[in-house]
Amino acid sequence: MIKLNYRYTDSTIIGSEHGLNVNEEFNNYSETISEIIKNLNQKKDKPGQWLQWMNLGYNEETVWYVKEFASMVRNRFNNILVLGIGGSSLGGLAVTEAILKPYWNLLSDEQRDNYPRIFFLDNIDPDLMNGLLNVLDLKKTLVNVITKSGDTAETMSQFMIIRDLMKKELGDDYRKHIVATTDKKMGILRQLADQEGYKTFFVPDDIGGRFSVFSAVGLVPFALVGLDIDQIIKGIKDMDLALKNTDVFQNIAAQSALIHYLMDIKKNKKLTVMMPYSSRLRYVSDWFVQLWAESLGKEYNNNGEKVNIGLTPIKALGATDQHSQVQLYNEGPNDKLITFIRVENFDTVLEIPKVFEYTGIGYLGGKTINDLINAEADSTKVSLIDYSRPTLSITMDKINEYNIAQLLYMLEVQTAIIGELYNINTFNQPSVEQAKNYIYALLGRAGYEGSAEYLKEKLITTI
Ligand code: PA5
Repeated sequence: MIKLNYRYTDSTIIGSEHGLNVNEEFNNYSETISEIIKNLNQKKDKPGQWLQWMNLGYNEETVWYVKEFASMVRNRFNNILVLGIGGSSLGGLAVTEAILKPYWNLLSDEQRDNYPRIFFLDNIDPDLMNGLLNVLDLKKTLVNVITKSGDTAETMSQFMIIRDLMKKELGDDYRKHIVATTDKKMGILRQLADQEGYKTFFVPDDIGGRFSVFSAVGLVPFALVGLDIDQIIKGIKDMDLALKNTDVFQNIAAQSALIHYLMDIKKNKKLTVMMPYSSRLRYVSDWFVQLWAESLGKEYNNNGEKVNIGLTPIKALGATDQHSQVQLYNEGPNDKLITFIRVENFDTVLEIPKVFEYTGIGYLGGKTINDLINAEADSTKVSLIDYSRPTLSITMDKINEYNIAQLLYMLEVQTAIIGELYNINTFNQPSVEQAKNYIYALLGRAGYEGSAEYLKEKLITTI
């Protein structure tokens, strides 16, 4: 199991001005935490609670269908193109980047065991999109269009362009190159998929985009590029069982949630830094940023009081950002709680040759790159302690499907628990919806005329 070390948030290590008396706090909050965990598990099956993601470790039927589809299309495509944005792409990107061999898309077919390349086109930059279309052979590409709502402008505009191109290149066969992941019944993509006869998977009810990585949203692309989705499901399930423990001393998601919460309300740490010491985990930070920001950034609490709650998430990468952000983390405002993710065993051990022994870099010879990155993580931690900066460390023994699933699921549960501590609705995203509505209005979608008038007026007076 992945592990959490919270010692470096304790006042005995970083002093009482910025550190917590962690044991005392765990005791003080033990009942609250226990209630929260019990409640989450009790209400997870109730419609409208948006907690169905807590059941994804037990979703054998979807796993079966996903595996069947992946085996049917095995060896048929050279490329998978995922169209989606936000929660519909960040989880897929985070997990595939972590598990697939680095530089996957540059490897030969043989090196990829004949599994396809994978591209995530999340943004709508026209140059980027055109660039990708110039290098992709659509005849050998399977497009997985993912949108829960079925009408997100970014995703659907990309889809409209690509479907059109495919139709021109492939004739009627274009349909066999599209797999749609969307709502079971609702939305425009569902309607189109039924009309045009695409293969579809559905995002179960009561799972928001940012909590959907282990539904078909993630599982389909994972299976298509050969990831072991049984191990992913096992990872979530084992972590789910561990996190059912209502004792805060035994539950790492509760510990991390409570420490983040107390560091905010007692020590004014409103910034959360996610800093893996592994390039393969860099997109886990992107995924986490969305999870944390959309879940916790809320104007009102559950009592309808205006609170403007939120912990601002920041992504960093070790060791790279030691040469960028760490100066600020050490000497700037003491307003952050930094979480390191450490990997104990990399797949590769890379030795540094014993050369240039007569120079100042001679000490590196005979060591490994692994020694170096781990020493850098340790030294950053110690320097942060020197400056009384709190840090948490999550450790995994190696990067694989099982551990990544545990990590992401633990962070989801942590987010749900801290949302309860703040007494906010963790699962809605009114501002995201508002931005989507503004886009529809600006581009003339029927039904949004009122907003269009308002926006035109605002744009004239403010630009
Ligand atoms: O977490 C969320 O709900 C959002 O970020 C959505 O995932 C994002 O807006 C994309 O929505 P959809 O899947 O409906 O296209």
